[in-house]
Amino acid sequence: MILVTGGAGFIGGNFVLDWLAHADAEGIVNLDKLTYAGNLATLSPLEKDARHVFVHGDIGDKALVNQLLEKYRPRAIVNFAAESHVDRSIHGPAEFVQTNIVGTFNLLECAREYWNSLETQDKEQFRFHHVSTDEVYGSLSSSDPAFTETNPYKPNSPYSASKAASDHLVRAWFHTYGFPVITTNCSNNYGPYHFPEKLIPLVILNALNGKPLPIYGDGQQVRDWLYVGDHCSAIRKVLASGKLGETYNIGGWNEKANIDVVKTICSILDELKPRTDGKSYAEQITFVKDRPGHDRRYAIDASKVERDLGWRPAETFDTGIRKTVQWYLDNPIWIEGVVSGSYRDWLKQQYN
Ligand code: NAD
Ligand code: DAU
Repeated sequence: MILVTGGAGFIGGNFVLDWLAHADAEGIVNLDKLTYAGNLATLSPLEKDARHVFVHGDIGDKALVNQLLEKYRPRAIVNFAAESHVDRSIHGPAEFVQTNIVGTFNLLECAREYWNSLETQDKEQFRFHHVSTDEVYGSLSSSDPAFTETNPYKPNSPYSASKAASDHLVRAWFHTYGFPVITTNCSNNYGPYHFPEKLIPLVILNALNGKPLPIYGDGQQVRDWLYVGDHCSAIRKVLASGKLGETYNIGGWNEKANIDVVKTICSILDELKPRTDGKSYAEQITFVKDRPGHDRRYAIDASKVERDLGWRPAETFDTGIRKTVQWYLDNPIWIEGVVSGSYRDWLKQQYN
């Protein structure tokens, strides 16, 4: 088996579904705390699949993690569990420190003890794959080259600082203890099962509900968008063939300004589900107060993973965003499930 943490969230959920869609896949023990971002509905296709064992719990719970490692004897851990939303980290950083730093520390320590107890061959095969972000590298100007794996860490938000700290712990566990880690630093993901606090799903749902489409600041901030299925395939590849102790940047080669992303979503919706008044959804675009410390541009140079492991994304932004918009149109039940009271409270707090 493999142990996946945070597998009820956006990327972890996609990863679990994708992994188990392969007939010869090993089973998954999925440890997730089910915070507001965790959603068992994402995993409902696996209800009768004995290869998936869901465990409700915290990566910071030492006794529980030890017990799971002892019981299921995984040959790898893929760590997705995190607090992941920059805006929430600005309102309340404590949970980010707790899960992203202390939680990762706990997971590393439990895993190291387990790994030390393995027989030589199992020990050699074991992997701890840490899923991280491009935000640890800080912000680029429009003329800077894209982030490579050798860029210095310059995190700017409580979220990215907490992820940077976790990356440092993972790195140190390799160098100090020889513990077999690999880290991937990925750019902005989008696709099915994305919680609608993040730009793309928020804009799709607000558009359909006749609400404003909030653009922070001037909307010229640039992100490098990767379809979530491509992130899953990259993690599979790195887990199978990545070199221990290395980090790999994962990105979509799809740099877009936020305003252009939102306009693209509007024009796809104009085509697939036109407004009843005949106007474009773009009429709902509203510029709002900027995010404090808002990073201007992220861009990933994903040449290393292509050169060393032969991975490249399959989707372009045009193909991926169309699939994504269509998915939100086709899945109203999943959406109803996430748009709960606590979600409405968040919108009120953030957008007033
Ligand atoms: P998400 O917020 O959608 O999901 C996080 C999941 O982790 C949720 O299911 C939540 O319940 C769970 N979780 C939170 N705290 C936990 C804890 N203490 N113990 C166990 N489970 C816990 O996040 P996501 O967007 O799917 O991101 C997954 C990982 O990928 C994160 O580590 C994030 O930093 C990283 N990442 C995300 C993106 C992106 O664009 N979303 C890009 C690069 C890297
Ligand atoms: O770069 C990888 C990161 O991408 C991940 O590590 C994070 O977990 C993930 O949340 C994401 O962070 P961002 O802050 O880039 O994503 P978000 O969807 O929140 O915002 C994308 C851009 O859109 C960003 O420049 C802020 C802007 N934005 C966001 C929201 C929610 C708006 O203009 N309006 C909004 O309402």
